[in-house]
Amino acid sequence: MNNLLIEISKLGTPIYFYIKEKILENSRKLKENFKDVEIYYAVKANFNPEILKIFKDENFGFEVVSEGELKLALKTGINPDKIVFNGNGKTYKEVKFAIENGVSIFNFDSVDQLLLLENVAIELNKNIKALARIKSLVDVETHPHLQTGIFTSKFGLNDEEIDEVLYISRKLKKVKIVGIHSHIGSNIKDEEPFIKSAYRVLKIAKVFDNIEILNLGGGFAINMNFKELPKLYNELSKNYRIFIEPGRYLIADAGFILSQVVSIKKGYPYDFLVIDCGMSELIRPALYGAYHPIKTLKGNLAEKFYIVVGPICESSDVFGEYLLPNMELNDLVIIENCGAYGYSMASNYNGREKPYEILIENSTYKIINTKKFL
Ligand code: LLP
Repeated sequence: MNNLLIEISKLGTPIYFYIKEKILENSRKLKENFKDVEIYYAVKANFNPEILKIFKDENFGFEVVSEGELKLALKTGINPDKIVFNGNGKTYKEVKFAIENGVSIFNFDSVDQLLLLENVAIELNKNIKALARIKSLVDVETHPHLQTGIFTSKFGLNDEEIDEVLYISRKLKKVKIVGIHSHIGSNIKDEEPFIKSAYRVLKIAKVFDNIEILNLGGGFAINMNFKELPKLYNELSKNYRIFIEPGRYLIADAGFILSQVVSIKKGYPYDFLVIDCGMSELIRPALYGAYHPIKTLKGNLAEKFYIVVGPICESSDVFGEYLLPNMELNDLVIIENCGAYGYSMASNYNGREKPYEILIENSTYKIINTKKFL
């Protein structure tokens, strides 16, 4: 592997690489656990067209949140019936584009967004299905920015709004409310909140007349240890179509950034190791205090603590403290768990070009994105 990484580094660091075998392993583990569940990959986690193709070939549907994501999903040749259009602020233009292109399942979480779906469906004379996103009101142990089902969240209908949706639902002509949706947050390591949320979704489903679909959202952390949850979801599937929308679980630990040491300087309490990857390429440490393991090509020697930082002109451009071998200028490092919300959240901040993306399969690599935006 080291030789391959050295070869890849010659394309220019920092550089993203993904390991296809790991993506397939994650996909198959999920399918084995959730045999009777429909899986909609959350495109926002990583929307590289080659990655989307892998998930389409695994027979997953797609969860999208914008016209841009929808276009990328459609480009894979997927049947639009296997796309769920989600989002709390869809525009007229986006809804029109989606319906015109055959999308028929929409999540909504406000009364005006439901009426938007109805008005566009009437204008285009198409029947569509809608899933009401609720607040699950469960506490999840994750970064506050990654909680989405709590009472104060901007996502989901509150009880008053659910009453109004129920009232309006009887008058709708082109939209049929066929499902309840919940997504409680992201990077959740424990099954319990998912179980609690599923029961609340079920309870609200029973208040409506025509519920066929329970969309139980995404949010699984990598290496999630599934025990009770698959049993519950597979059981629920006897009475409903069960959807899940995982992103991170499928791709995070299959993606890495290869970066190079550009400076080492005195720091307190440890020396700074400045690498050529920063928050423009991976914003998660700065935005969520996320910890990404960092490895070197020098083996697992634990010789010295460093504060690993990027080159961006921001004090928050810090990866954290790491125990590493003694490092020298130009050494390569590998940042782990970058496959989800890595490249998809990258920016051109500080006038930096976006990195290349590489897909490794059978120990050979191909470049899957050379796009530079500057
Ligand atoms: N479904 C809905 C409605 C969502 O909002 C999301 C993620 C997912 C599914 C997929 O969640 P996942 O399985 O990937 O956890 N940028 C953050 C994560 C934000 C997630 C936003 N919504 C991060 O870097 O951790």
